[in-house]
Amino acid sequence: MSFKIVILGSGAGSNAKAILEAEKKGKLGLAKTLALISDNEEAPILDLASQYEKDGHGISCNPHKAKLSQNERDFFINKVKYYNPNLVILAGFMKILDSTFIDALNGRIINLHPSLLPSFPGIDSIKKAFVSGAKITGCTVHWVTPELDAGPIIDQMAVPIAPEDSINSLTEKVHRAEHSLLPSIIKKISLGEILMP
Ligand code: GAR
Repeated sequence: MSFKIVILGSGAGSNAKAILEAEKKGKLGLAKTLALISDNEEAPILDLASQYEKDGHGISCNPHKAKLSQNERDFFINKVKYYNPNLVILAGFMKILDSTFIDALNGRIINLHPSLLPSFPGIDSIKKAFVSGAKITGCTVHWVTPELDAGPIIDQMAVPIAPEDSINSLTEKVHRAEHSLLPSIIKKISLGEILMP
């Protein structure tokens, strides 16, 4: 029995890569990635599809809008639903999803965010934490709801901000935490150790 997942991402794909590596090493529980889908046809995340022998789809979307248009949204829903996934993973997916999208997937969508929510929602969260003078930041995985970065928190990993940190070094630390947290949560959900909504 496998637990089907689809990954949505917009950019570099380092978190998608961490998921795919965990899967390759047998460390993703019952989870099996079926496809990587991006709102940016040029996104490096799509290169991972061929590297890991998965389906990859780039859907051309307006890069200047935070939300998907109705057409873009319906296209996404159809593509994702084709795979009938048990869970959809937002791994660096930078579009805001509305309730139609979330309901179409029965709320089975998790998002990775680079801060300790509810602090620093939205964009540039690592930079916002850095300039705020906070002594600690981190990353969060939460269930997706129509309210941005505000769904129920599944788990978090803290990252201390050291006096000698720069934005670059802090970004590296947060990414390292993300690469450990996200696959571990997918594994637990696939094994029923974290319950679906
Ligand atoms: C990650 O840091 C993720 O938390 C963030 O985008 C980055 C994607 O990196 N997501 C958000 O900010 C969502 N609001 P990646 O493409 O290398 O995985």
